[in-house]
Amino acid sequence: MIFKKIKDNILYAGMNDKDRLIFDELIPLDHGTSYNSYVVKGSEKTAVIDTMYPKFTEEYIKSFDENGIEKVDYIIANHGEQDHSGSIPAMLKKFPEAIVVTNAVCAGNIKEMLLVPQDKIKIIKNDEELSLGDKTLQFKIAPGVHWPDTMFTYIKEDNIIFTCDFLGAHFIFDDVFAVPSKELERSAKKYFAEIMMPFSSVCRKYTEQLKNLKPEMILPSHGPVYKNPDYILDLYADWAGEKGKNLVLLPYVSMYSSTEEMIDYLAEKLKEKGISSVKYDMVDGNLGDLAVALVDGTTIILGTSMVLAGPHPAAFNTIYLASILRPKVKIASFIGSYGWGGNLFGKMTEMLAPLKLDIIDPILVKGKAKPEDYLKIDKMAEEIYKKHKELELI
Ligand code: FEO
Repeated sequence: MIFKKIKDNILYAGMNDKDRLIFDELIPLDHGTSYNSYVVKGSEKTAVIDTMYPKFTEEYIKSFDENGIEKVDYIIANHGEQDHSGSIPAMLKKFPEAIVVTNAVCAGNIKEMLLVPQDKIKIIKNDEELSLGDKTLQFKIAPGVHWPDTMFTYIKEDNIIFTCDFLGAHFIFDDVFAVPSKELERSAKKYFAEIMMPFSSVCRKYTEQLKNLKPEMILPSHGPVYKNPDYILDLYADWAGEKGKNLVLLPYVSMYSSTEEMIDYLAEKLKEKGISSVKYDMVDGNLGDLAVALVDGTTIILGTSMVLAGPHPAAFNTIYLASILRPKVKIASFIGSYGWGGNLFGKMTEMLAPLKLDIIDPILVKGKAKPEDYLKIDKMAEEIYKKHKELELI
């Protein structure tokens, strides 16, 4: 457990979970993750902002003794998900005088999910303030990043804001403060893709609000503390923006290389036209790579072999993931190869329908692509070029 001074009377009280390999049993993690909790000592009262992942509750509670925190008056729950709220019941046992402070939606969640008694919860409204003496906490209810129960906690006198999951990253550190790097940017982007991208319009709203607030620091509940808030806010403004980049995603699965050869040919043709592409192996690839690419891609061309008269199951998985993460992809199509027959594209087209994408004619070949099939891929590349040009991406 790391206890570290952030500024006078504000402490980081969290930990790195280096062994965590996957989050939500979905996205592999490059560097594990961190669970951040904070202690704010006012002249009269002490508050803890968010708690700890349940697995580490014992260690977390012990660290309060080890660091001389003898009294906690308020436990601020910015969000009810258990990686932040899971240690609230143990904290209430350790500090029986403490009251949990949260909004009405989060209160409902922690009562039901963690059995926190009603009489231990104080419900606050948006912009309501709570005095700790010489520090004032102000609560900014922020539903949708990423649960309906989320809120931020702002300390007026210090001009710093605790944003819980929003602006977080699955990242570990020795120093609590962010040092901009490619690794941090990728971790924050992957985190954004999985957790925040489905709520991009809400992210845009809060990014703008925080830009206007001009806090001195942003303190999320995963990943490092930002002493330069513009670093993470500018990245979010880009990732959550409405317009994708001049980028084509090429997820594929190929049993006898026929589909992969066509995907490679398309990538080459796109490159000749100045369009970037990312190839992704849907069977052996790291889902995190696909999630990161989905943040920027404008077009997705999915390549799949036929398996028992339909697409390979990995193709359904990718389409399902893309549909729930709600990326800014606008154009789609398929390339595929079959052996004896079936319907390769029907079900996948149905699954994509709700996304209302601009669908380019798919290309289906028996076995290996022939010269006439390569001409069709040339035509597909040209259509993508024209559409990207219309979208002013080129
Ligand atoms: Fe990090 Fe939504 O919990």
